[in-house]
Amino acid sequence: MRTLITNIGELTTNAAGSATPHHAVQDAAVLMEDGLITWVGRADEAPGAEEIIDAEGRAVIPGFVDSHSHLVFGGDRAAEFEARMAGQKYAAGGIRSTVAATRAATDDELRARLRGFLDEMHAQGTTTVEIKSGYGLDVETEERLVRLAAEVTPEVTFLGAHVVPAEYADDPEGYVDLVTGPMLEACAPHARWIDVFCETGAFSVEQSRRVLEAGIARGLAPRVHASQLGPGGGVQLAVELGAASIDHGTYLTDDDVAALAASETVLTLLPGVEFSTRQPYPDARRLIDAGVTVALACDTNPGSSFTSSMPFCIAVAVRDMGMTPAEAVWAATAGGARALRREDIGVIAPGYRADLVLLRAPSRIHLAYRPGVPLVERVWKDGVQVA
Ligand code: NIG
Ligand code: FE
Repeated sequence: MRTLITNIGELTTNAAGSATPHHAVQDAAVLMEDGLITWVGRADEAPGAEEIIDAEGRAVIPGFVDSHSHLVFGGDRAAEFEARMAGQKYAAGGIRSTVAATRAATDDELRARLRGFLDEMHAQGTTTVEIKSGYGLDVETEERLVRLAAEVTPEVTFLGAHVVPAEYADDPEGYVDLVTGPMLEACAPHARWIDVFCETGAFSVEQSRRVLEAGIARGLAPRVHASQLGPGGGVQLAVELGAASIDHGTYLTDDDVAALAASETVLTLLPGVEFSTRQPYPDARRLIDAGVTVALACDTNPGSSFTSSMPFCIAVAVRDMGMTPAEAVWAATAGGARALRREDIGVIAPGYRADLVLLRAPSRIHLAYRPGVPLVERVWKDGVQVA
């Protein structure tokens, strides 16, 4: 069946070869057929279709590509958040309390939770999500987490090297052996990506290199958590190994920025983390002006960022990180696609997947201008309405 969305007041296409990367056109229409976009153009030149949706002058954007999340876990850490808002500092060690709750949860409990988060994300315009393991930290539980994630997305990341679990506190190298050996063997069949938390309190640059190289040798592609809590060597390592993305980047040196600008590695900013941990916001303006490709993602997790809202992240990135609304929407759509090395999403043009969001607003600017307001009216993934 052919579905035409017409009378679109502002259509963000992100189409290559346009005047700006975050290109938008007025008075537009989009045709979808068999899950793909088959035509984009002026509303008054639109072809016929079996189903016609009148956008009544409102805006349409590509579905959000949330390239960083940790959606499979048990419990929550509301009390830790409350203590932090009363002045306590965020530290990587909090991850361990979620590990205990995750190990104790059944597959069905984790699956129900995961599906709830996905519904939440669809309702907020997300059509692609990457999901990491990392709250199991033993072979059996990490395998469960990547297997459950693979039920709902092709973008699955093995993050056994999230933090050293309590039982290996005296033998971190032994834990890296486990991650790069039997755990990787068990998890790799369900995953596309290998990730590591390269940070003080988690894994050193040398340990991170071992983890990433083992994953690469097993056919996984690298992405890296780094420079979240302070500067470190993770960014340079990510660039050296050709990682698709380095995520967080709250503390970057000038050398980090120069290395990123000269590379194919995307920097994925996670505004929910600075918001929820009361850390300083990274300066996206400095990065974009230096030529770094920036993506935005939610990093949904019970510790550092328990939001699943890409519109919220866009609003914070515009308000506090110096991005324009157009840049932030690009970073949350085409930028996320780049961070996942995907060439079939993040853009509204013929041949791309029909992943689209109709906003209850006349332009994308409203996503930042009206923070906290539910502006997502309808969402299509592969041409099927999901919200
Ligand atoms: O991306 N940085 C490491 N991992 C998560 C936080 C995990 C947690 O605190 O539970 C993150 O921020
Ligand atoms: Fe994360």
